[in-house]
Amino acid sequence: MIIESIHAEFGVRISGVDLSRPLDDEEFARIDLAINQYSLLLFEYQQMNDDRHLEFSHRFGQLEEEHVSYYSSGEVTYIGHIGNIDADGNMISARQIKSSTGNEMWHSDSSFREIPAMYSILCAYEVPAEAGETEFASARAAYQRLDQAIRDRIDGRVGIHDYIYSRTKVGEDAVTQGQRTYMHPVRQRLVRQNPVTGEKNVFVGSHVKQIEGMADDEAKALIEQLIKEIARPQSVYRHRWRAGDVVIWDNRCTLHRGCGYDDEKYRRRMHQTRVRGICPSIAEPLDS
Ligand code: OGA
Ligand code: MN
Repeated sequence: MIIESIHAEFGVRISGVDLSRPLDDEEFARIDLAINQYSLLLFEYQQMNDDRHLEFSHRFGQLEEEHVSYYSSGEVTYIGHIGNIDADGNMISARQIKSSTGNEMWHSDSSFREIPAMYSILCAYEVPAEAGETEFASARAAYQRLDQAIRDRIDGRVGIHDYIYSRTKVGEDAVTQGQRTYMHPVRQRLVRQNPVTGEKNVFVGSHVKQIEGMADDEAKALIEQLIKEIARPQSVYRHRWRAGDVVIWDNRCTLHRGCGYDDEKYRRRMHQTRVRGICPSIAEPLDS
């Protein structure tokens, strides 16, 4: 297994691993440590299908139900379809699915769940010939850069994350009635800490609408400032997808966003799983 850096602040490419067969315990332990250390892992030239994708994902823990169908129709699936291709392989307009435009704001997957997602694992099957990149940035590197005054403002604070809030920024019709009924705002720590490495990070993103105990205007400005700091241009890793790429990222300490593409012209077919977190972020142990 070869691990090479792909960005100065986070992210590595791992080669010499075939994700289409079961990993032995030693291989898996290296990958498990790497995701805690580097926050994003890229595996190229993989021969994936949904069964292999699910099997690999399960090594990290339990999986989340895909939230769009789950909260709309109650249907439980573990593979999320990202892009403009339906289950039968036909092209749909991604712009018809407004929730995917929501992916173009900096976010952490499932931070709107009481137990936010730990990892997302995305397999690329078909990618546009131009654009359609995904950008990532490290909220851990950003925490390192914050001055003490800002750390003092966020340490110990709680952000309110709300899917309905973030998705209706795209359009009132971007959420279903089922989502309005079942998806409630949740409390998440503004500063989290990795249980393996002890490193701290900021935890914000498009779903955050308020900070507990802070005036709305002040909170909005602070959230914006934090997202801007995390995603300053030189800190962004922009991933140009190729079919066969598998990327796993740590939602506890990174933000990402889609960059958009011409969905009338190009096919984009990606499948995603999300590994469930262990407990609510506010119940995670934290060094003071
Ligand atoms: C995701 C996501 C952005 C993209 O898969 O969670 O936000 O580029 N994707 O498709
Ligand atoms: Mn996402």
